[in-house]
Amino acid sequence: MTFGKVIRPQWPLDEDIIFLNHGSFGASPHAVLAVQREWQDRMEAEPVRFMTRELPQHLDKSKAELALFVGARVEDLVFVQNATEGANAVLRSLLSTFKPGEELLTVSHAYRAVRQTMVYVAGLCGATVVDAEVPFPIADPEEVIDAIRLAITPRTAFAVIDHITSPTGVVFPVEKIIALFKERGIPVLIDGAHAPGQIDLHLDTLGADYYVGNCHKWLFAPKGAAFLWVDKKHQAKIHPTVISHYLGGGYQTEFGWTGTRDSTAWLSIPAGIEFHKKLFAAGSREYTRKLLVDARREISVALGVPLGTPENMLANLCTFPLPGNPDATDERVLKLHDVLFDEHRIEVPAMNANGKLYVRISSQVYNDPSDFDALKGALVELAGAGRI
Ligand SMILES: Cc1ncc(COP(=O)(O)O)c(C=O)c1O
Repeated sequence: MTFGKVIRPQWPLDEDIIFLNHGSFGASPHAVLAVQREWQDRMEAEPVRFMTRELPQHLDKSKAELALFVGARVEDLVFVQNATEGANAVLRSLLSTFKPGEELLTVSHAYRAVRQTMVYVAGLCGATVVDAEVPFPIADPEEVIDAIRLAITPRTAFAVIDHITSPTGVVFPVEKIIALFKERGIPVLIDGAHAPGQIDLHLDTLGADYYVGNCHKWLFAPKGAAFLWVDKKHQAKIHPTVISHYLGGGYQTEFGWTGTRDSTAWLSIPAGIEFHKKLFAAGSREYTRKLLVDARREISVALGVPLGTPENMLANLCTFPLPGNPDATDERVLKLHDVLFDEHRIEVPAMNANGKLYVRISSQVYNDPSDFDALKGALVELAGAGRI
């Protein structure tokens, strides 16, 4: 199988756009979307039969395939629409267990929506949110561990730690981080929004208390396909964000029905897994990695900036510094994105990490070096004109 321009027509991606942001919302190929449409047709052919007689068993099958893929027991997995919802389900279920003065710990590279959920929960119970200050650029996985160790106090009651960070695209050493919390008896939720499909997962042996992951990012599933994994010992206290008929029925039963909805994204996860596996067998991981590593080296050399991340902390995302190390305001972040999109037709996010402005690239099988050359040219031009 050849990657790059040859394979790109397998996605409905706009031909006029250089798409370097698989990370934000994923991109589903035609093959997976066709499967979702088949499910939707089946649902609408007889909605009552579908919802009441067919859906539960099809969801079970889909979940069983996902469980196999992420190395989990099927009983520990439930479907949610997205990682934000999964994190909300956990944090809001635990609300009454946090006491005034306790600390909910996260990292300075955390995803804002998840951190805001922590702020909301902390505000309701008199707790506070503490950020471990993880540096960026970063040189070594130990820097993450040190930052987290420093931020833990006797008041730390809970932690939310990213598996692959959103603003910086860094793969965190989560096994070692989980061990830090375990030693101290602090439960930890791993935010793996970017992990499924980007890196291999073995949730059964990872040792987390809670894990959320998206299938609509790097596993090619349609939007609205995500999961929550909860260690058996915590399941009885975790409820969905939407309470429905089966309150009190237990973890699987409660999450199994949260009101009428289109569940076809969940039903299409096996199609996403199959698509991913075919690409993987054809060498997608090697292809996207080389693409990413080469691109960030060339862009960094052209811009005269240091590399932000060591290679052993990269998967398919990479964030790199900009000339002059500019401060990031919300306005600057938006403006840089908009200039690249409006003037250069490049879809790539500008990022605020620890208050500085960066650009984050995603490397996917439909990309090739010419996409990154275009970005390099645009950034060199903008930097030369003093517009970054
Ligand atoms: C680390 C992280 N957590 C959570 C999310 C939220 O994902 P979703 O919008 O699917 O809930 C994202 C999205 O990019 C993310 O990067």
